[in-house]
Amino acid sequence: MKLRAPASSANLGPGYDVLSVALSEPYDIIDIEVEEGRGIGISVRGEYSYMVPTDPSRNSAGLVASRILSWLDAEMHVEIEIDKGIPVAAGLGSSAAPAAAVAHALDRMLSLGMSRERMVEVAGYGERASAGVEHYDNVAAATLGWFDIVRVGEGGLRVFNIRPPKGSKIFFSIVVPPTGSAYGKTGKARGLVPKNVDMKSVIWNVASASMIVTGAVLGDPRLIGEGMRDVIVEPARSGLVPGYSEVRRAALESGAFGIAISGAGPSMMAVSGSKEVARRISKAMWEALAHEGIDSMAFVAEPGEGVSSME
Ligand code: HSE
Repeated sequence: MKLRAPASSANLGPGYDVLSVALSEPYDIIDIEVEEGRGIGISVRGEYSYMVPTDPSRNSAGLVASRILSWLDAEMHVEIEIDKGIPVAAGLGSSAAPAAAVAHALDRMLSLGMSRERMVEVAGYGERASAGVEHYDNVAAATLGWFDIVRVGEGGLRVFNIRPPKGSKIFFSIVVPPTGSAYGKTGKARGLVPKNVDMKSVIWNVASASMIVTGAVLGDPRLIGEGMRDVIVEPARSGLVPGYSEVRRAALESGAFGIAISGAGPSMMAVSGSKEVARRISKAMWEALAHEGIDSMAFVAEPGEGVSSME
């Protein structure tokens, strides 16, 4: 089964491990076959392939496949071919996309009848490859598309999917500085997250995350952008992001309604309400990094759909 699995951006500022959005581009193309035999095979092609481990125990797709195989009392071999279009270790859900694709494909191919919560939960297991632990924000977006909210804990995993009204004008400008290996990158960034948080900051972040959710429901990019101001996690991680302050300033001065680190970084993502403004912002973000002597890649995307079959 051949699938298209999108990049995603998690947190959107204040929604650490809660809020995410699937992007219209870039995406991975993943081919999954179930064959006779036993085990899991992974091959990776594409621009970023050399950065992706093919050992199934270190690869998000491999972890998801082995999780599903461990439930089934059946002999089978799962062969996974990943054509990597999503930059790796950039904070753009490059581990979530193949993980979501494997959960989706095996559910269909083996008629497992998983609920969407179950599918997101299984895909989240794959995040151990880069984060060391499960987190469900990116895999929710990669699985269901558009904006997503996840809540983990009492009562199990809850997932809420928000598709902005048709015709909404929400544009993301994304800048990707050079990145390293996928393995363990997010885990390091998670190690910086503060253990204790003051109440004033919690109140600010809850209000800001609520603004983002309201903006997604209404299709209002200004509300989304104004909500993207995190006072808890982002200040602790900003040191990992090259040219953080310069990129932020450039985006806001060019008309962005808001900007945040994308996932665990080092990419940054700004929001605006027209393609033209979004292009101007991405250029300004790119130039801000070039001015610091940092090569980067910048592009524009919109909220998009989740994993889908290409057959
Ligand atoms: N919520 C996760 C984190 C997203 O910020 O660590 C990683 O892409």
